[in-house]
Amino acid sequence: MSTAVTDHRTPWAALEDKQRELAGVSLRELFAREPRRGPAMTAEHDGVVLDYSKNRVDARTLDLLVALAEERGLRAGIEAMCTGSPINTTEGRAALHTALRAPAGESIILDGHDVVPDVHAVLAEMSAFAVRVRTGQWRGATGAPIRAVVNIGIGGSDLGPAMAYQALREFGLDTLTVRYVSNIDGHDLARTLHDLEPETTLFIVSSKTFTTVETLTNAYTAREWILAGTDDPGAVAKHFVAVSTAAAEVEKFGIDRDNMFEFWDWVGGRYSLPSAIGLSLMIAIGPGRFHELLAGARSMDEHFRTAPFGANLPVLLGLLGVWYRNFWRAQSYAVLPYDERLARLPAYLQQLDMESNGKSTGRDGSPLTVDTAPVIWGEPGTNGQHAFFQLLHQGTVLVPGDFIGVLEPAHELSGHHDLLMANLFAQTEALAFGQPAPQRDSGSHREFPGNRPSNTLLIPRLTPYTLGQLIALYEHKVFTQGWIWGVNSFDQWGVELGKTLARRIHAELRSESAGEHDSSTAALIERYRAAL
Ligand code: F6P
Repeated sequence: MSTAVTDHRTPWAALEDKQRELAGVSLRELFAREPRRGPAMTAEHDGVVLDYSKNRVDARTLDLLVALAEERGLRAGIEAMCTGSPINTTEGRAALHTALRAPAGESIILDGHDVVPDVHAVLAEMSAFAVRVRTGQWRGATGAPIRAVVNIGIGGSDLGPAMAYQALREFGLDTLTVRYVSNIDGHDLARTLHDLEPETTLFIVSSKTFTTVETLTNAYTAREWILAGTDDPGAVAKHFVAVSTAAAEVEKFGIDRDNMFEFWDWVGGRYSLPSAIGLSLMIAIGPGRFHELLAGARSMDEHFRTAPFGANLPVLLGLLGVWYRNFWRAQSYAVLPYDERLARLPAYLQQLDMESNGKSTGRDGSPLTVDTAPVIWGEPGTNGQHAFFQLLHQGTVLVPGDFIGVLEPAHELSGHHDLLMANLFAQTEALAFGQPAPQRDSGSHREFPGNRPSNTLLIPRLTPYTLGQLIALYEHKVFTQGWIWGVNSFDQWGVELGKTLARRIHAELRSESAGEHDSSTAALIERYRAAL
């Protein structure tokens, strides 16, 4: 079905023409033209199936999108990332998260040093520690075994392990509670701790920088709680471990270097779940299962690195995202997992995608002239159907998205799974093909216009392995898009100003003199001060 791209326009210009042409062609028509379009536009890797046939594309569109990826040097970009080039130019770093799942024995040289043995050394330390906690050998200050593990972190030091734990908790131990605290809002920590016992609680303070105010505030409060609850000044050593790149900051907090699990500046926060940031998950599901997650991610890494773009799942997802963002002007993108266990996947992907590619300056420092990341959002099905699907079917905005289904459930309740999956299939069919209004309808209230595109991703079961595949799939989708847009997907300068202003305002809230602010902010601060 491939047609060579031989015209003299740039792929971008040819895609603009293509969009104008396809704007007048319905998905119904595209399917009628090609009876086997469904299977023909399905790509598969190692059990992960991507049906992209319900998109507003024809074979030529895909060729042009692949030509765009080639013209933008995506292949070289992937190699640069996977071999440790400092592609995070604004921070002068590599983005080598793929090394976190490289098998022992492979070599990845960064600044003359092989990082793979380091990765496996930390994995071994994590495994030994996880086993000690799981088997009750690691004891709290009073000699009691650990019954609750609380990960304190935020952003990439929370969303990955929290999402993965929610997805895989069936693989966990009944005897161990695992919780995640991220928000500086004290309600989060208070609710987390309300039914836990200090004697049996272990905190993992996860922070790449170990300077993040939310995490440190929660960690200091948790430390007070442990000290008060155990009445032992030495209890910190038994109830706190750290995951960080910043040993000096960890020691400043009072956590021994021996109780710190290391990762490296070449692991971006939002790419860090497969690093020591996954420690809480490893304790929950066990080291063997955690290694399965790494193996799943590795399988997708290799696919991304070697498969031709036209059959490459992350590249296809990325290119289709570019197609809707830049050529159809879609402002948002929905992630719709038809699986309650993946309820936190949209939140995880929000950081992955929007913090990576939500930028308007290019890699070379000049302003970008194309739109970049869309707003990522979503909820599990079928809940979303009873909330926002009205807009997806009949609203005035185009919202492409991914429907994610799992073929075999992990529960044994009869009837549920067929209904769940029937809804997934029905929704993508209804969105794509719509339905004319009934004759007797006076207006078009009951018309379903159709032509609303979606991808369907299917995995056989939700396991550590397939979750690892999904994580790497989306990481590489995001990379593909960032590379094509000319974005550095690995920095996040856009979060800094708010942090600086919050520090300044925090100092003012209880001081005599207020700082200089606009009239809105000043009045809001004043209301708060008056309420104190
Ligand atoms: O503020 C954004 C951010 O830097 C994210 O990129 C990061 O994942 C999060 O904060 C947490 O950072 P840290 O792991 O250093 O605490």
